[in-house]
Amino acid sequence: MVWETQDRLTAEPAAKAVLDKKLKADIKALCKLYPNKQAALLPILHRVQAKRGHLPDQALIEIADLLELSPAQVLDTAGFYDMYTRQKRGKHLIGVCESLSCELCGSGEILKALKKKLKIEPGQTTKDGKFTLITMQCLGACDYAPAVLIDETLYKTVTADQLDSILQEADK
Ligand code: FES
Repeated sequence: MVWETQDRLTAEPAAKAVLDKKLKADIKALCKLYPNKQAALLPILHRVQAKRGHLPDQALIEIADLLELSPAQVLDTAGFYDMYTRQKRGKHLIGVCESLSCELCGSGEILKALKKKLKIEPGQTTKDGKFTLITMQCLGACDYAPAVLIDETLYKTVTADQLDSILQEADK
């Protein structure tokens, strides 16, 4: 018996492109800011994620093609950093800091309360698609522990009692 290998990229029907003209132009502009285009990979992943909400496989393939990298190299980078997600996220991303200062100041209680309120575990999204809950490492606000980051807003010295109003404010 002979095993035949197939290149998944050519053996399967091509997926619909996810990078539109504008995004490709943004990527090309970002490449010009770096000594070589491969060096622009991190900001490009940020840009695509900001636009698409996550980094689907097809986006990684297209980025690899534009940067003359292998899809595996782009996937390795996207998978290494916490700030990139390959799963679709909710409208708002809630990050609870679980590093030492925050943990000592009660981030565990905050996380527990959020899990109960939102009825999800870290890494999951609420049924209505509004919130995705994750844990994060130090947010650089240790003197205001426990800290919670919702989208771009940092909430300091958070208590469980404040969570309802914080969630309301985040989803205004
Ligand atoms: S430990 Fe939480 S912000 Fe630094």
